[in-house]
Amino acid sequence: MKKNVVVAIDGYSSCGKSTLAKALAKKLHFIYVDSGAMYRAVTLYFLRNQTDLHQHDLIIDALDHIDLNFHSRDYQSHILLNGEEVSDEIRQMPVSENVSKIASIKEVRQAMVKQQQKMGRSKNMVMDGRDIGTVVFPDAQVKLFMTADPKIRAERRYKELKANGEEVSLEEIFENIAHRDYQDTTRQESPLTRADDAIILDNTNLTETEQLDFAISKIEPYLNI
Ligand code: DC
Repeated sequence: MKKNVVVAIDGYSSCGKSTLAKALAKKLHFIYVDSGAMYRAVTLYFLRNQTDLHQHDLIIDALDHIDLNFHSRDYQSHILLNGEEVSDEIRQMPVSENVSKIASIKEVRQAMVKQQQKMGRSKNMVMDGRDIGTVVFPDAQVKLFMTADPKIRAERRYKELKANGEEVSLEEIFENIAHRDYQDTTRQESPLTRADDAIILDNTNLTETEQLDFAISKIEPYLNI
């Protein structure tokens, strides 16, 4: 039987992982899973419940009450938190500012990784995140590690949020990105790091089409095996 193909895309915040992942999924007819959306939805749950995010025991106990589901429409990843679609709300600043606290908790990560591995067992999929090539799918056929100049990343994110009508400043975004880079790379649990066999993709000066072509050229050899 043909083995399903898994493409793992890791990298820093706001460097275009999900844009590339979605484009790949569309082109190859793979499923797309945004693993960051899972950490964001869990964070939203606790913000809504006004849980003290430093009380790890409360957070761990509540994990059983959080049901996450994806439904795929047009190769976009829509996430449901206990049945409610929260895809837009999880992108807003309150969640962005708090998600790295939640994503650093070991038990939260274990619960997310278990669900992610289940999703990738039988289907061709592209999953993006921070630990996909290192922890979730260490055997993924193709691993990409994305990076870009932090200033360019902040500008891209700023434009995106502005287009959605959010009142934010470029400085605020830049600081949030720098803070998340620091937290993601220095946390104890599954810090962001490049898997030895991951291919670096620095997209500071690349168009979306160039990135897509590059990624396809790396995946193509696995498609007919
Ligand atoms: O990719 P993103 O910005 O939506 O991710 C939100 C947060 O979740 C980010 O601070 C890092 C964390 N994350 C993680 O720790 N592991 C993943 N696989 C995906 C995201």
